[in-house]
Amino acid sequence: MENIINNLKEALIGESIAKRKYELFAEQAVKENLLEIAHLFIATAFAESIHIKNHLKALSSIIESPINLNDIVKINEDEIYKQVKDTSSNLLNAIDGENYEFKIMYKNFEKSAKKNKENVAELSFKLAKMAEEIHSKLFTKFFKILTQKKLFKKYEIYVCKICGNIEIGKIPSKCPLCDHSSIFYEKIEMN
Ligand SMILES: [Fe+2]
Ligand SMILES: [Fe+2]
Repeated sequence: MENIINNLKEALIGESIAKRKYELFAEQAVKENLLEIAHLFIATAFAESIHIKNHLKALSSIIESPINLNDIVKINEDEIYKQVKDTSSNLLNAIDGENYEFKIMYKNFEKSAKKNKENVAELSFKLAKMAEEIHSKLFTKFFKILTQKKLFKKYEIYVCKICGNIEIGKIPSKCPLCDHSSIFYEKIEMN
């Protein structure tokens, strides 16, 4: 169980850093007038906040007490700032991060939660793993549009508040990752 608690903590730190990083990447994209990419970064930052919420719930159910995120995660803002480059590099940074999470980190965390019969943690890791794969695909798609100098279409972007899945264009009748109804999708506005 100690192992699962540590994994949840590591995931909470990873998600918190990713969320903050994407907020900064969005600001950088706005500076480059790449508003569609900024929009995707804002949506993905929100999706990571869903993972934080789910992991916190899983952690507090295991240790049977409420948890304050700030007790677990201390964000080093300067370290995150150092990662901000031009938007093309930021997209590659984001793709690498998402790939590590879904291919290695969450895959291992899910396996170990399953072995230990920690169902809530297992589900939280599984949903995050599936959503990160979608995030990676979307960042890759936007990276290609940017590097091939194609025009971005005007998109609406929606995020599932249960699992952090991102849908571009329109909402599905139910979430393909977590099976919840479309009423759990939130439209992401550029602020
Ligand atoms: Fe992600
Ligand atoms: Fe979902």
